[in-house]
Amino acid sequence: MTRELLRFHAVTKTFASGQSQLVILEDLDFVLYSGTTVAITGKSGSGKSTLLNIAGGLDKPSAGSISFLGRELGALNDKELSAFRNRHIGFVFQSHILLDDFTALENVCVPALIRGVRQSDAVKRAKELLDRVGLSDRLQHRPQKLSGGERQRVAICRALVNAPDLIIADEPTGSLDEESSSGIEILLTDIVREEGKTLLMVTHDTQLASRCSTVYLLHNRTLQEMA
Ligand SMILES: Nc1ncnc2c1ncn2[C@@H]1O[C@H](COP(=O)(O)OP(=O)(O)O)[C@@H](O)[C@H]1O
Ligand SMILES: [Mg+2]
Repeated sequence: MTRELLRFHAVTKTFASGQSQLVILEDLDFVLYSGTTVAITGKSGSGKSTLLNIAGGLDKPSAGSISFLGRELGALNDKELSAFRNRHIGFVFQSHILLDDFTALENVCVPALIRGVRQSDAVKRAKELLDRVGLSDRLQHRPQKLSGGERQRVAICRALVNAPDLIIADEPTGSLDEESSSGIEILLTDIVREEGKTLLMVTHDTQLASRCSTVYLLHNRTLQEMA
């Protein structure tokens, strides 16, 4: 059975540009089903990051609305929205946003501790995830001592620690060279599937995109499903 996780209802997003308005997304309808892996491709500047930010409640539409498990995100205040993101959504961005003064293990634990999970449980879950991505011998490393690819693997674990329903990944290998990036997006797709979660990811890798349930092209301010 497919359950609707996220829905864009006639979403329009504009940004002011001097006196005029830049229309980035226009009258966009989109449904994301639970348990699917969805890739979004499109030219630079086409609005992919804007779309993900709106999907994850980091930005608001100029018109239209977003519902997540049937709940209107626009009805939540900022505090409710942060709690909602912490519980339901894991983000992986292009470049790492790890805390430099914390070890890999501590970085992964942070969202769980914010959520109020017992420290011993957070550590257990974090260690399992870091082991899954091949970093069990890097638990005590700080981000500066990790390679770019290792940092993104830590970021993936951090996004997954609270077992969120949805993982949003914005070009997770965008800042890596080809060698370190190979495998990261595949790893992310595999773990999301193993955990029975849902993935919404922007990627340039068309081969990777073909491993996903559905691929969309963001073009002319809306999403087109690719054959
Ligand atoms: N906060 C903002 N204010 C004004 N313009 C913005 C803002 N964020 C993005 N844009 C513009 O919106 C367009 C789409 O940006 P973005 O979503 O980052 O594209 P992509 O991720 O596909 O490269 C770009 O032209 C960008 O300059
Ligand atoms: Mg972008």
